[in-house]
Amino acid sequence: MNPRLVPLLCMSLLALLSAPLQAAYVWTPSPPAQEIEARLTKLQTDAPAMKTAIAAGKRAAFFCANCHGDAGVSVLDHVPNLAGQNAFYLLAQIDKFGDGRRQDAFMSGLVKVLKPEERFNISVFYASLPVPPIPAKQKAQAASGGKHYARACAGCHGPKGHGTRDIARLAGQHNGYLVSALKSYRDGSRSRADPRMAGSALTLSDADIAALSSYLGSLP
Ligand code: HEC
Ligand code: HEC
Repeated sequence: MNPRLVPLLCMSLLALLSAPLQAAYVWTPSPPAQEIEARLTKLQTDAPAMKTAIAAGKRAAFFCANCHGDAGVSVLDHVPNLAGQNAFYLLAQIDKFGDGRRQDAFMSGLVKVLKPEERFNISVFYASLPVPPIPAKQKAQAASGGKHYARACAGCHGPKGHGTRDIARLAGQHNGYLVSALKSYRDGSRSRADPRMAGSALTLSDADIAALSSYLGSLP
């Protein structure tokens, strides 16, 4: 068999397997945002509770490591790093996959098996890990992306691309993933919609997206 077909076959198999999984599990929504926020804030000053949540999150994330890497740094350009991402944002995205507001062939099925407590702990676990910057291949392109970023994006995602509570960290993220996320917002694809972000992506050209992505990946 053509070896290039092997990953494709594995992915199709996973998608097939996830269909019965989705049917067998009932999705339980996470507690209200204020409650999640209060718990996350409390963890910051409670080291033993933080340690317990991280350890439980690591156990619950054993399957996620196949794509997102053991320490939340993926080796696949189209799979996002989760390391260093904001915990509240991570949980919000898992919940969006779970209830259908965000769609992806793999993620939408996979998260259905997670209980609210596991989703919380997984988010705390990944947020606690460091993410390494990815040096830009074309320095001039990245520099122009940096200027565009400061003008159009830093107001929400922060001057260093670290995001906030519910706005994604972009620093150190994979190029391929950033490009596909930005195109999904721009093109209004059903896979990804959020009015706060979609407005900013509408006017981006492919060249803008390439420059922004290469700049953002290179940020520590
Ligand atoms: C088969 C590979 C695969 C596995 C296994 C997997 N993921 Fe993903 N994950 C992806 C891909 C691909 C995306 C990007 C989807 C998109 O483009 O919207 C993603 C996106 C995400 C995101 C959104 C990140 C962001 O920056 O917005 C989160 C959170 C996430 N995954 C968590 C998990 C968790 C938790 C598990 C384990 C239960 C898991 N993933 C297992 C492939 C995978
Ligand atoms: C008004 C605030 C706002 C502005 C301005 C903004 N963003 Fe966002 N961005 C968001 C929010 C909120 C999200 C998360 C949306 C969601 O849940 O899908 C997001 C998500 C993203 C994501 C997906 C991250 C991930 O991990 O999946 C990328 C990439 C991104 N923004 C890049 C940019 C770029 C580049 C610009 C400037 C051209 C920009 N954003 C301007 C609010 C903003």
